[in-house]
Amino acid sequence: MHLIETRDLCYSYSGSSRALDGINFIAPRNARIAVLGSNGAGKSTLFKHFNGIFKPTSGSILIRGEPITKQNVREVRKFVGIVFQNADDQIFAPTVELDVAFGPTNLGLDEETIHHRVREALHIMGIEDLAGRVPHHLSGGEKKRVAIAGAIAMEPEVLVLDEPTAGLDPKGIHDLLGFISDLKKSSGMTVIFSTHDVSLVPEIADYIYVMSKGRIVAQGTVAEVFSQTELLKSVRLDVPHYPKLIKSLQEKGIPVSMAFTFEEAEKAFLEAFKGRS
Ligand SMILES: Nc1ncnc2c1ncn2[C@@H]1O[C@H](COP(=O)(O)OP(=O)(O)OP(=O)(O)O)[C@@H](O)[C@H]1O
Ligand SMILES: [Mg+2]
Repeated sequence: MHLIETRDLCYSYSGSSRALDGINFIAPRNARIAVLGSNGAGKSTLFKHFNGIFKPTSGSILIRGEPITKQNVREVRKFVGIVFQNADDQIFAPTVELDVAFGPTNLGLDEETIHHRVREALHIMGIEDLAGRVPHHLSGGEKKRVAIAGAIAMEPEVLVLDEPTAGLDPKGIHDLLGFISDLKKSSGMTVIFSTHDVSLVPEIADYIYVMSKGRIVAQGTVAEVFSQTELLKSVRLDVPHYPKLIKSLQEKGIPVSMAFTFEEAEKAFLEAFKGRS
């Protein structure tokens, strides 16, 4: 049984053509899943099905094997935490601290646990100093961090992040990536995220779905997806920096092994230049 599974999921906004057209998506436990696609591909629309905000026009979505119903939607929202693309949609409490505490309080946790989770989430997102601030007076990137902290504090089993790095500064991105990698070691949490920053994808994802015009046009591991250069170009996506550079060098006859992450690329270059002055 998968944590999240969609079967031929279609969705149309009222009066519009299909925003999702036959999506078959699976999220297993402890996976890091990237959903890529150009503007309007359907990523946010798909994510809004994962906790019952949207209902499929046809097809189905199963959470732990069960459809989302009025009776279980509260449970589903504890299980699947979503950070929307626009942080303004999510932040509403009078202070940052209260905002991050909102989810854990609703879970009915005791005060000490709530306090601990809020501190931890503020720390992970590097926003302890914003705790007393009014969320609506924060910058875009600060709001984004607050929204992500709010979801982290819920400790959902599936964390869905729609464009989590958009608007974050380099340190913010670094901290978020570190948190997601640490999660893999420390808990079984599954992370599903969308991004336009393809170079970040190999650093985090172990599986990728590529969407275009409401459909899934490619899926697979980092190596499987990012080797399909022509397909990616046809759906207005780029290949990450390292494989792009290495492919170009290989075409010039320089023997560097293919690599996708910083670590792999460093190793490949050291190997290629070993023994050369
Ligand atoms: N509220 C809405 N009413 C009508 N159509 C909508 C609405 N929201 C989105 N759409 C349309 O649905 C399609 C998918 O939009 P969606 O927001 O899911 O794309 P996305 O992949 O998240 O894009 P982006 O990268 O820009 O965030 C687009 O064609 C969009 O114009
Ligand atoms: Mg979107």
